[in-house]
Amino acid sequence: MNITHLRYVALAMPEFERSRAFFTEAWGLRDSGAVLDGAAFLQTQLDEPFQLALFRAPERKVVRIAFGLPSRHDVDAAATALEHAGVPTIASPHRLSTPGHGYGFQFLDPDNRCIELSADVEPGVAGPSGPVPQKLAHIVLNTPDIDGTTAFYRDVLGFRISDWSEHQMSFLRCNPEHHSIAFNAAPHAAYNHTSWTMGSIDELFRAQGRARTSGSTLMWGTGRHGPGSQVFNYFVEPSGYVVELIADGIEIPDENAWQPQVWQRTPEAMDLWGTAGPPSAEIRVAMTGVPDAGHEPARA
Ligand SMILES: [Fe+2]
Repeated sequence: MNITHLRYVALAMPEFERSRAFFTEAWGLRDSGAVLDGAAFLQTQLDEPFQLALFRAPERKVVRIAFGLPSRHDVDAAATALEHAGVPTIASPHRLSTPGHGYGFQFLDPDNRCIELSADVEPGVAGPSGPVPQKLAHIVLNTPDIDGTTAFYRDVLGFRISDWSEHQMSFLRCNPEHHSIAFNAAPHAAYNHTSWTMGSIDELFRAQGRARTSGSTLMWGTGRHGPGSQVFNYFVEPSGYVVELIADGIEIPDENAWQPQVWQRTPEAMDLWGTAGPPSAEIRVAMTGVPDAGHEPARA
């Protein structure tokens, strides 16, 4: 399976209006204007109709995570392969109703999360400009079974393991970027954070400034991570989701030459510059999130 990139994340928002204001004003995303089921669809600079979908709901929940495939043929082949692997599917390949449509299908990962694979999605009109996120970089998910979940994404979906952070976190890639998805060992499945790529360290600080003047507080950073080497800043948006700005991370130039390493969880390895210090208790609680039971079938 040849997954090309992370397309979007759809989240349930208890504070829908405040969260929409945060992502469009403080975070610099552009509201695409599309409306479907009362959701908001927000764009980065990437050639995608949206990279974040916000749904009104009483509790936080990952509604869906979508990845791209190169072609309709790959979508059909992936659906067949997952069926043979015994993976529960939610829907067979069909024309999608989300902005940009495309051809795709949904299935459940080992933590009962709805994952979508699609191709032929129409690009949106031009996204935002200025020191705003170039793209959605990655999502980190809490999982009660880090070995099983990591193995599923590697063996069934074709991700490659870039690095481990002890036996606490696994970082997986589907293109030269160090990770498009990562897993964190936790008592329950939940959203941990999403991360958004800025074009440079200068732009990262400009975005930090915009978030500050919009009333948001920097919760952890600025620092530079060990695994992936990104410069980072963390915030918590109004519904309680942790969001990260990154810049200047590494790319993996040679698939075959890369050897995953196991990073020690020392203060020096988690904050290479020593500028961020340890994450606060508050942001650790926010990253632990609320237990997410995953996909709920539509009631008949
Ligand atoms: Fe991250």
